[in-house]
Amino acid sequence: MSPQTMASFQELMKELKVEAVKRPDLQLVQGVPLPSPSCETWDQLCSFQARPDDLLIATYPKAGTTWMQEIIDMIHNNANLEKCRRAPTYVRVPFIELVPPKPIPSGLTQVQEMPSPRTIKTHFPFQLVPKSFWEQKCKAVYVARNAKDVLVSYYYFIKMNHGLPTSGTWEEHFDAFLTGNVAWGSWFDHVKGWWEAKDKHQILYIFFEDLKEDLKREIKKVAEFLEKDLKEEVINKIALHTSFDMMKDNPMANYTTLPSFIFDQSVSPFMRKGSVGDWKNHFTVAQNETFDEVYALKMAGGPLKFRTEL
Ligand code: A3P
Repeated sequence: MSPQTMASFQELMKELKVEAVKRPDLQLVQGVPLPSPSCETWDQLCSFQARPDDLLIATYPKAGTTWMQEIIDMIHNNANLEKCRRAPTYVRVPFIELVPPKPIPSGLTQVQEMPSPRTIKTHFPFQLVPKSFWEQKCKAVYVARNAKDVLVSYYYFIKMNHGLPTSGTWEEHFDAFLTGNVAWGSWFDHVKGWWEAKDKHQILYIFFEDLKEDLKREIKKVAEFLEKDLKEEVINKIALHTSFDMMKDNPMANYTTLPSFIFDQSVSPFMRKGSVGDWKNHFTVAQNETFDEVYALKMAGGPLKFRTEL
Protein backbone atom coordinates (compact mmCIF):
# COMPACT_ATOMS: atom_id res chain seq x y z
CA MET A 1 0.00 0.00 0.00
CA SER A 2 1.22 3.44 -0.79
CA PRO A 3 0.50 6.31 1.63
CA GLN A 4 -1.34 8.81 -0.54
CA THR A 5 -2.91 10.52 2.47
CA MET A 6 -1.84 11.60 5.93
CA ALA A 7 -4.11 9.00 7.58
CA SER A 8 -2.68 6.04 5.64
CA PHE A 9 0.83 7.33 6.22
CA GLN A 10 0.29 7.51 9.98
CA GLU A 11 -1.01 3.92 9.97
CA LEU A 12 2.19 2.72 8.27
CA MET A 13 4.34 4.79 10.62
CA LYS A 14 2.83 3.05 13.65
CA GLU A 15 4.19 -0.27 12.33
CA LEU A 16 7.71 1.07 11.87
CA LYS A 17 10.07 -0.29 14.55
CA VAL A 18 12.91 1.75 16.08
CA GLU A 19 15.35 -1.11 15.47
CA ALA A 20 14.50 -1.07 11.73
CA VAL A 21 16.18 2.34 11.38
CA LYS A 22 19.94 1.93 11.06
CA ARG A 23 22.45 4.25 9.46
CA PRO A 24 23.39 2.68 6.11
CA ASP A 25 26.77 2.58 4.38
CA LEU A 26 27.63 4.29 1.15
CA GLN A 27 27.61 2.12 -1.98
CA LEU A 28 28.82 3.13 -5.43
CA VAL A 29 26.48 3.19 -8.44
CA GLN A 30 28.36 4.14 -11.61
CA GLY A 31 30.99 5.72 -9.34
CA VAL A 32 28.47 7.80 -7.37
CA PRO A 33 28.16 7.06 -3.64
CA LEU A 34 24.54 6.45 -2.58
CA PRO A 35 23.04 5.26 0.70
CA SER A 36 23.18 1.47 0.28
CA PRO A 37 19.38 0.87 0.51
CA SER A 38 18.89 3.20 -2.47
CA CYS A 39 20.92 0.76 -4.56
CA GLU A 40 18.38 -2.03 -3.91
CA THR A 41 15.94 -0.62 -6.45
CA TRP A 42 18.60 0.46 -8.94
CA ASP A 43 17.70 -2.13 -11.61
CA GLN A 44 14.01 -1.23 -11.36
CA LEU A 45 14.87 2.47 -11.48
CA CYS A 46 16.78 1.96 -14.74
CA SER A 47 13.69 0.48 -16.35
CA PHE A 48 11.27 2.99 -14.76
CA GLN A 49 8.66 4.19 -17.24
CA ALA A 50 8.03 7.91 -16.90
CA ARG A 51 4.85 9.53 -18.19
CA PRO A 52 4.98 12.69 -20.30
CA ASP A 53 3.22 14.74 -17.63
CA ASP A 54 5.62 13.70 -14.85
CA LEU A 55 7.53 16.60 -13.32
CA LEU A 56 10.92 16.11 -11.66
CA ILE A 57 12.28 18.24 -8.84
CA ALA A 58 15.99 17.56 -8.82
CA THR A 59 18.58 18.82 -6.35
CA TYR A 60 21.81 18.02 -4.61
CA PRO A 61 20.85 17.37 -0.94
CA LYS A 62 20.17 20.53 1.10
CA ALA A 63 19.86 22.82 -1.90
CA GLY A 64 16.21 23.75 -1.23
CA THR A 65 14.33 20.63 -2.33
CA THR A 66 11.56 20.93 0.26
CA TRP A 67 11.16 24.60 -0.55
CA MET A 68 10.68 23.87 -4.25
CA GLN A 69 8.36 20.94 -3.46
CA GLU A 70 6.10 23.32 -1.50
CA ILE A 71 6.27 26.04 -4.16
CA ILE A 72 5.33 23.62 -6.93
CA ASP A 73 2.53 21.97 -4.95
CA MET A 74 1.14 25.45 -4.26
CA ILE A 75 1.39 26.36 -7.95
CA HIS A 76 -0.37 23.15 -8.97
CA ASN A 77 -3.12 23.75 -6.43
CA ASN A 78 -3.62 27.42 -7.18
CA ALA A 79 -2.45 28.33 -3.65
CA ASN A 80 -5.22 26.31 -2.00
CA LEU A 81 -3.79 25.82 1.49
CA GLU A 82 -6.16 23.05 2.45
CA LYS A 83 -5.13 20.95 -0.54
CA CYS A 84 -1.44 21.54 0.15
CA ARG A 85 -1.93 20.38 3.74
CA ARG A 86 -3.38 17.03 2.62
CA ALA A 87 -0.16 15.16 3.46
CA PRO A 88 3.52 15.72 4.31
CA THR A 89 5.92 16.82 1.57
CA TYR A 90 7.41 13.33 1.19
CA VAL A 91 3.97 11.85 0.48
CA ARG A 92 2.83 14.62 -1.90
CA VAL A 93 6.11 14.49 -3.83
CA PRO A 94 7.73 11.04 -3.47
CA PHE A 95 11.51 10.67 -3.45
CA ILE A 96 12.03 8.13 -6.24
CA GLU A 97 15.33 6.54 -5.14
CA LEU A 98 14.48 6.41 -1.43
CA VAL A 99 14.26 2.95 0.14
CA PRO A 100 13.01 3.50 3.71
CA PRO A 101 12.73 0.78 6.34
CA LYS A 102 9.72 -1.52 6.04
CA PRO A 103 6.75 -1.21 6.05
CA ILE A 104 7.18 2.23 4.47
CA PRO A 105 7.09 1.62 0.70
CA SER A 106 10.00 2.61 -1.51
CA GLY A 107 9.84 5.89 -3.35
CA LEU A 108 9.59 3.92 -6.56
CA THR A 109 6.49 2.05 -5.35
CA GLN A 110 4.94 5.31 -4.20
CA VAL A 111 5.56 6.89 -7.59
CA GLN A 112 4.19 3.87 -9.46
CA GLU A 113 0.99 3.89 -7.41
CA MET A 114 0.47 7.62 -7.70
CA PRO A 115 -2.14 9.00 -10.07
CA SER A 116 -0.97 11.42 -12.78
CA PRO A 117 0.10 14.15 -12.95
CA ARG A 118 2.98 13.15 -10.70
CA THR A 119 5.62 15.40 -9.17
CA ILE A 120 8.71 13.40 -8.23
CA LYS A 121 11.80 14.27 -6.19
CA THR A 122 15.32 13.03 -6.94
CA HIS A 123 18.82 13.80 -5.72
CA PHE A 124 20.39 11.86 -8.59
CA PRO A 125 23.13 13.51 -10.58
CA PHE A 126 21.89 13.96 -14.12
CA GLN A 127 23.50 10.80 -15.51
CA LEU A 128 21.68 8.54 -13.03
CA VAL A 129 18.17 9.84 -13.75
CA PRO A 130 16.05 7.11 -15.42
CA LYS A 131 16.32 7.70 -19.17
CA SER A 132 12.61 7.48 -19.80
CA PHE A 133 12.11 10.93 -18.18
CA TRP A 134 13.99 12.38 -21.15
CA GLU A 135 12.48 10.00 -23.72
CA GLN A 136 9.05 11.18 -22.53
CA LYS A 137 10.25 14.81 -22.69
CA CYS A 138 9.32 15.42 -19.05
CA LYS A 139 10.01 18.75 -17.42
CA ALA A 140 12.43 19.11 -14.52
CA VAL A 141 13.12 21.93 -12.06
CA TYR A 142 16.67 21.84 -10.71
CA VAL A 143 17.53 23.88 -7.60
CA ALA A 144 21.19 24.68 -6.98
CA ARG A 145 22.63 26.27 -3.83
CA ASN A 146 26.12 27.56 -3.15
CA ALA A 147 28.45 24.82 -1.96
CA LYS A 148 29.55 26.49 1.28
CA ASP A 149 26.02 26.71 2.68
CA VAL A 150 25.18 23.23 1.36
CA LEU A 151 28.23 21.82 3.14
CA VAL A 152 27.06 23.31 6.46
CA SER A 153 23.41 22.38 6.01
CA TYR A 154 24.40 18.82 5.04
CA TYR A 155 26.57 18.51 8.17
CA TYR A 156 23.62 19.21 10.47
CA PHE A 157 21.23 17.12 8.36
CA ILE A 158 23.44 14.02 8.50
CA LYS A 159 23.63 14.38 12.28
CA MET A 160 19.84 14.48 12.69
CA ASN A 161 18.83 12.05 9.90
CA HIS A 162 19.36 8.45 11.00
CA GLY A 163 18.67 7.23 7.47
CA LEU A 164 21.97 8.61 6.14
CA PRO A 165 25.55 7.34 6.43
CA THR A 166 27.56 9.35 8.96
CA SER A 167 30.20 11.77 7.66
CA GLY A 168 31.99 12.17 11.00
CA THR A 169 33.19 15.25 12.80
CA TRP A 170 32.93 18.72 11.29
CA GLU A 171 36.52 18.43 10.00
CA GLU A 172 35.86 14.96 8.54
CA HIS A 173 32.61 16.10 6.97
CA PHE A 174 34.38 19.09 5.44
CA ASP A 175 36.91 16.80 3.71
CA ALA A 176 34.27 14.23 2.74
CA PHE A 177 32.16 16.93 1.09
CA LEU A 178 35.08 18.36 -0.88
CA THR A 179 36.09 14.92 -2.14
CA GLY A 180 32.50 13.93 -2.93
CA ASN A 181 32.56 11.09 -0.43
CA VAL A 182 29.03 11.78 0.84
CA ALA A 183 25.64 10.48 -0.24
CA TRP A 184 24.86 11.55 -3.84
CA GLY A 185 28.51 12.29 -4.45
CA SER A 186 30.27 15.42 -5.57
CA TRP A 187 28.38 18.72 -5.36
CA PHE A 188 30.65 20.01 -8.15
CA ASP A 189 29.76 17.20 -10.57
CA HIS A 190 26.08 17.50 -9.65
CA VAL A 191 25.61 21.21 -10.34
CA LYS A 192 27.75 21.06 -13.50
CA GLY A 193 26.04 17.94 -14.84
CA TRP A 194 22.57 19.42 -14.56
CA TRP A 195 23.78 22.76 -15.94
CA GLU A 196 25.17 21.06 -19.05
CA ALA A 197 21.91 19.11 -19.50
CA LYS A 198 19.58 22.06 -19.12
CA ASP A 199 19.63 23.25 -22.72
CA LYS A 200 19.19 19.74 -24.15
CA HIS A 201 16.02 19.00 -22.17
CA GLN A 202 13.15 20.87 -20.56
CA ILE A 203 15.05 21.80 -17.42
CA LEU A 204 14.57 24.99 -15.41
CA TYR A 205 17.70 25.78 -13.39
CA ILE A 206 16.93 27.81 -10.27
CA PHE A 207 19.26 29.13 -7.56
CA PHE A 208 18.47 29.00 -3.83
CA GLU A 209 20.06 32.44 -3.46
CA ASP A 210 17.66 33.86 -6.08
CA LEU A 211 14.71 32.41 -4.17
CA LYS A 212 16.00 34.17 -1.06
CA GLU A 213 16.56 37.41 -2.92
CA ASP A 214 13.16 37.65 -4.60
CA LEU A 215 10.79 34.78 -3.95
CA LYS A 216 7.90 36.19 -5.99
CA ARG A 217 10.08 36.68 -9.06
CA GLU A 218 11.29 33.09 -8.89
CA ILE A 219 7.79 31.68 -8.25
CA LYS A 220 6.65 33.47 -11.42
CA LYS A 221 9.54 31.88 -13.31
CA VAL A 222 8.55 28.40 -12.12
CA ALA A 223 4.85 29.02 -12.85
CA GLU A 224 5.67 30.19 -16.38
CA PHE A 225 7.82 27.11 -16.95
CA LEU A 226 4.89 24.95 -15.81
CA GLU A 227 2.57 26.94 -18.11
CA LYS A 228 0.42 28.09 -15.20
CA ASP A 229 -0.98 31.57 -15.55
CA LEU A 230 -1.40 32.70 -11.95
CA LYS A 231 -3.00 35.91 -10.69
CA GLU A 232 -0.84 38.28 -8.66
CA GLU A 233 -2.83 37.51 -5.50
CA VAL A 234 -2.14 33.79 -5.96
CA ILE A 235 1.59 34.49 -6.37
CA ASN A 236 1.48 36.60 -3.20
CA LYS A 237 -0.20 33.79 -1.31
CA ILE A 238 2.36 31.24 -2.51
CA ALA A 239 5.23 33.53 -1.49
CA LEU A 240 3.73 34.01 1.96
CA HIS A 241 3.04 30.32 2.50
CA THR A 242 6.51 29.26 1.31
CA SER A 243 8.44 31.77 3.41
CA PHE A 244 10.89 30.18 5.85
CA ASP A 245 8.86 31.15 8.92
CA MET A 246 5.61 29.72 7.53
CA MET A 247 7.22 26.47 6.40
CA LYS A 248 9.05 26.10 9.71
CA ASP A 249 5.68 26.11 11.49
CA ASN A 250 3.92 23.91 8.93
CA PRO A 251 3.89 20.24 10.04
CA MET A 252 3.21 19.20 6.45
CA ALA A 253 6.48 20.84 5.35
CA ASN A 254 8.83 20.73 8.36
CA TYR A 255 9.21 16.92 8.69
CA THR A 256 7.95 16.88 12.31
CA THR A 257 5.56 14.11 11.16
CA LEU A 258 8.57 11.74 11.15
CA PRO A 259 9.46 10.07 14.46
CA SER A 260 12.60 11.27 16.24
CA PHE A 261 14.32 7.90 15.65
CA ILE A 262 14.40 8.85 11.95
CA PHE A 263 14.76 12.67 12.04
CA ASP A 264 15.94 13.82 15.46
CA GLN A 265 14.99 17.47 15.39
CA SER A 266 16.39 17.97 18.90
CA VAL A 267 19.83 17.52 17.29
CA SER A 268 19.03 20.00 14.53
CA PRO A 269 15.68 21.18 13.19
CA PHE A 270 14.97 20.27 9.56
CA MET A 271 14.03 23.91 8.92
CA ARG A 272 17.29 25.07 10.46
CA LYS A 273 18.23 28.61 9.36
CA GLY A 274 17.27 28.92 5.71
CA SER A 275 19.80 31.67 5.10
CA VAL A 276 22.58 32.56 2.68
CA GLY A 277 26.01 32.91 4.29
CA ASP A 278 25.67 30.72 7.39
CA TRP A 279 28.96 29.10 6.33
CA LYS A 280 30.72 32.16 7.79
CA ASN A 281 29.66 30.98 11.26
CA HIS A 282 31.31 27.59 10.68
CA PHE A 283 34.33 27.77 8.35
CA THR A 284 37.72 28.53 9.90
CA VAL A 285 39.98 30.89 7.91
CA ALA A 286 42.11 27.87 6.90
CA GLN A 287 39.06 25.86 5.82
CA ASN A 288 37.84 28.78 3.75
CA GLU A 289 41.19 28.98 1.96
CA THR A 290 41.23 25.23 1.31
CA PHE A 291 37.67 25.37 0.08
CA ASP A 292 38.35 28.28 -2.29
CA GLU A 293 41.36 26.48 -3.77
CA VAL A 294 39.42 23.28 -4.45
CA TYR A 295 36.48 25.29 -5.76
CA ALA A 296 38.65 27.25 -8.19
CA LEU A 297 40.11 24.03 -9.58
CA LYS A 298 36.80 22.19 -9.93
CA MET A 299 34.78 25.09 -11.33
CA ALA A 300 37.58 26.65 -13.42
CA GLY A 301 36.45 28.44 -16.54
CA GLY A 302 32.89 27.25 -16.25
CA PRO A 303 29.82 29.43 -16.74
CA LEU A 304 28.21 28.61 -13.37
CA LYS A 305 28.35 31.42 -10.85
CA PHE A 306 27.14 31.06 -7.26
CA ARG A 307 26.59 33.70 -4.65
CA THR A 308 27.81 32.86 -1.13
CA GLU A 309 26.30 36.01 0.36
CA LEU A 310 23.50 38.38 -0.57
P1 A3P B 1 19.57 25.14 6.29
O1 A3P B 1 20.01 23.84 6.89
O2 A3P B 1 20.72 25.99 5.82
O3 A3P B 1 18.65 25.90 7.18
P2 A3P B 1 16.46 20.37 1.38
O4 A3P B 1 15.00 20.58 1.39
O5 A3P B 1 17.07 20.29 0.02
O6 A3P B 1 16.87 19.28 2.31
O7 A3P B 1 17.11 21.72 1.94
C1 A3P B 1 16.95 22.10 3.28
C2 A3P B 1 17.53 23.49 3.44
O8 A3P B 1 16.62 24.43 2.83
C3 A3P B 1 17.63 23.89 4.91
O9 A3P B 1 18.73 24.81 4.97
C4 A3P B 1 16.30 24.58 5.13
O10 A3P B 1 16.26 25.42 6.23
C5 A3P B 1 16.18 25.35 3.82
N1 A3P B 1 14.81 25.77 3.52
C6 A3P B 1 13.70 25.01 3.42
N2 A3P B 1 12.63 25.78 3.20
C7 A3P B 1 13.06 27.05 3.13
C8 A3P B 1 12.42 28.32 2.94
N3 A3P B 1 11.12 28.42 2.76
N4 A3P B 1 13.18 29.42 2.94
C9 A3P B 1 14.52 29.34 3.12
N5 A3P B 1 15.18 28.17 3.33
C10 A3P B 1 14.46 27.05 3.34
